[in-house]
Amino acid sequence: MVNIAVLGYGTVGSGVVEVINTNHDTVNSNAGVEINIKYVLDLRDFPGDPVEKILVHDYESILNDDSVDIVVEVMGGLEPAFTFVSKALSKGKSVCSSNKELVANKGPELLKIARDNNANFLFEASCGGGIPIIRPLNSSLTADDIMEISGILNGTTNYILTKMSDEGWDFEKALKKAQECGYAERNPEADIEGYDACRKIAILSSIAYGKTLNYEDIYTEGIKEITTDDIDYAKKLGYAIKLVASSERSGKDIYAKVCPMMVGRDNPLFFVNDVFNGIFVKGNMLGDAMFYGSGAGKLPTASAVVGDVVEAAKNIGKTIPVRWGEGKLELSERGSEEGRFFVRAKGAGEAKKAEINKLFGQVEFVNAGKDLETAFVTERMTEKDFEASYERLEDKITRIVIKS
Ligand code: HSE
Repeated sequence: MVNIAVLGYGTVGSGVVEVINTNHDTVNSNAGVEINIKYVLDLRDFPGDPVEKILVHDYESILNDDSVDIVVEVMGGLEPAFTFVSKALSKGKSVCSSNKELVANKGPELLKIARDNNANFLFEASCGGGIPIIRPLNSSLTADDIMEISGILNGTTNYILTKMSDEGWDFEKALKKAQECGYAERNPEADIEGYDACRKIAILSSIAYGKTLNYEDIYTEGIKEITTDDIDYAKKLGYAIKLVASSERSGKDIYAKVCPMMVGRDNPLFFVNDVFNGIFVKGNMLGDAMFYGSGAGKLPTASAVVGDVVEAAKNIGKTIPVRWGEGKLELSERGSEEGRFFVRAKGAGEAKKAEINKLFGQVEFVNAGKDLETAFVTERMTEKDFEASYERLEDKITRIVIKS
């Protein structure tokens, strides 16, 4: 028997208990051993809930119980999660976590403590909810140099953008629904401003490229500024607006960014809607691969956590090798990347078009039936050149990157 302790009985924690109870036979058979939930830790009481009998309020009793082999950390936040996880790993207990904040901030440190103590620090659920992506990167794609990872990594914002586009909902209604469904972070700013997607692409890039990418180094822009007018233009052009997190290798350069992008039908991310996430991976031998599935929510996320519990149970006393090594990944300076850009500015007529052509050269003008403004798509140009021209454009409204 392998004993586990679940830290946090919120959305994901209760999901973990539900997955283990519902799929008891499957989980045990796949682990090759019985998985027993010995403790649930939470500050709150849950009178009448079946976990009442195993509920504890004090972490030390879990830490000092040598029969606990695996700790499941689904509390979220940096502290006390970091203290709890590092103490568990130091005692040789493996940890399975869904906590992207913890992994993005303390991943290398915790992986080292795990290695030093013949334990495992596993965090499949930290990126892409229920989608298997971390284990494939660590074990299936080990023959490849990863050239690109681009993804829709935040279910809440994808849900909001989809509902704004398909149902005509306004931003507030879509966000409220996402919160009711349990997709959004406790502070939904983390979703809306792109911070959550930023942490996830930092984690995936650190695994893919083998060194730590500090999430604070990644240019990040959220979806707050996106309006239904932008969505109308995107539709007119045959694009969808998605919050895309991407990192790309070009020769010795690595670039990463998180921002709303216009995505065309030729890109598989176009078809990733609602709360679903999609992660596109390009390997230098593999070519293209796409991982798709439920990116948030109680049971999909809990499924990924319990998958890690099974993996940890199969590897007690042995550290599974991971790609994420020592050292810091330096991003190349922004600006030299090339792309096309969609732009809107106030003002219409030939004089406005002449100003635009003077600044941006040849462009494709777009008419989505909006009065008193001009919209256009640039040719391919470097970000640096684009930003210089955009800066000089009079009465600008917005600009959105077009995903190549
Ligand atoms: N708030 C996150 C999302 C939860 O919407 O994707 C899953 O990490």
